[in-house]
Amino acid sequence: MPASAAIDLSVALGRLRLPNPVLVASGTFGYAREMAPFVDLTRLGGILPKTVTRQPRQGNAPWRTIETPAGMLNSIGLDNDGIEAFAANHLPYLATVGCPIIVSIAGRDEAEFVEMSALLGEQPGVAAIELNISCPNVSGGVDFGTNAPMCESLVRACRAATTTPILAKLTPNVTSVAEIAKGAEAGGADAISLINTCQGMAIDWRRRRPLLGNVIGGLSGPAIKPIALRCVYQVAQAVKTPLVGIGGIATIDDVMEFLVAGASAVQLGTVNFYNPTAATTVLDALPGALAELGAGCVADVAGTLQLPPRA
Ligand SMILES: Cc1cc2nc3c(=O)[nH]c(=O)nc-3n(C[C@H](O)[C@H](O)[C@H](O)COP(=O)(O)O)c2cc1C
Repeated sequence: MPASAAIDLSVALGRLRLPNPVLVASGTFGYAREMAPFVDLTRLGGILPKTVTRQPRQGNAPWRTIETPAGMLNSIGLDNDGIEAFAANHLPYLATVGCPIIVSIAGRDEAEFVEMSALLGEQPGVAAIELNISCPNVSGGVDFGTNAPMCESLVRACRAATTTPILAKLTPNVTSVAEIAKGAEAGGADAISLINTCQGMAIDWRRRRPLLGNVIGGLSGPAIKPIALRCVYQVAQAVKTPLVGIGGIATIDDVMEFLVAGASAVQLGTVNFYNPTAATTVLDALPGALAELGAGCVADVAGTLQLPPRA
């Protein structure tokens, strides 16, 4: 068994090299500046700032977040100041934090995704681009995550627009996430991130009103971990593209479960709201957990799930 000090934590997601596999998920870590007093950002495998759109978006009406048993619902609706403001106000700081920055983008159509990919590919400090084709809280753009040929076409077009590595972030709100993942792979994605939130809602029955201003929102946190694990496992059976597991990850055990299921890296999301240092705590424990399995690097563990013999 390798001593944990000798373990190589670096990972390759297609053309993207990361110092370690523990990243923080889009929409749950702001633009990183606000987290800097609490978290040693230089240690993270990567930061995904809040999804950026071509034009500024106000987002959805309140309420936008609600706590649920073992999770939360959100319907933020991609509130952001648009790509020009992002490049001017956030990217210069993000480029200095000392860990890879993966910029999450969402377009209303293929042309917007392509335009933003080309624009960001030119910017210093952008290690990769994650295509958010999975947000349940906006209309427009979401079809890319529910239709395999559209997903393939979009990824291919973005890939052609820049040399920057491309990740495709998928939704679990489909019949077969593996089919959509095959589209992303055929389009040339460097990695596939899964999952975004699961559609859900909350109701005040006395007032007979939905609690979210948008009526329906996205469920996240520990409540969705089994769904996310299932998606990673199914997609790992269907494609060779590296996977980034997301969904309810909060502890080292969660991380190891996702790696064994087939992920090469993970993103921590909702946990950042109640424990901003979860990612670095997990990182402290990762070499020991890998050593426990006799692994010398993350790839030794990724996708090593052993299935029971079929009856
Ligand atoms: C408040 C909130 C805002 C989010 N905003 C985004 C976003 O802008 N872009 C995106 O791709 N995912 C967004 N997500 C989804 C997360 O990145 C993640 O995929 C999802 O929450 C599942 O991971 P978790 O259970 O660890 O939170 C958001 C999640 C939450 C809770």
